[in-house]
Amino acid sequence: VSSIEVNVESLQPGMSLTVKWRGKPIFIRNRTPEEIEAANAVPLEDLKDQLARNANVDGTATATDVARSAGEGKENWLVMIGVCTHLGCIPLGQQGDFGGWFCPCHGSHYDTAGRIRKGPAPENLHVPTYAFVSDTVIKIG
Ligand code: FES
Repeated sequence: VSSIEVNVESLQPGMSLTVKWRGKPIFIRNRTPEEIEAANAVPLEDLKDQLARNANVDGTATATDVARSAGEGKENWLVMIGVCTHLGCIPLGQQGDFGGWFCPCHGSHYDTAGRIRKGPAPENLHVPTYAFVSDTVIKIG
């Protein structure tokens, strides 16, 4: 199994980084408090896909903001596979109606937790297997 380590020390709140893992883009974002707040303000029943889609939590976990993030105390970190769950285009960051990601191929809007909110994509952006191996290094895979 191939894994990569990414140093995120220079990533200030509001900054993102894209790395490649297994041929796919991985979005790493250090979210701002406002982005976390916006995601937390959304009732679960408003979500099209209510599952966390996070390889690091139980498969039945719901798509709360914390379940989408790196977890309690690290809610600012969002790590996702940058592949639209509709037909696989690469969404653009900090765009769209919900301030998260926007897929220009057919108009899917994801929120600041990477959850699908509008458009044809059926699922939230997937969160890959990853872990912090130190305060500043994330191991993906
Ligand atoms: Fe993203 Fe169709 S591939 S909306």
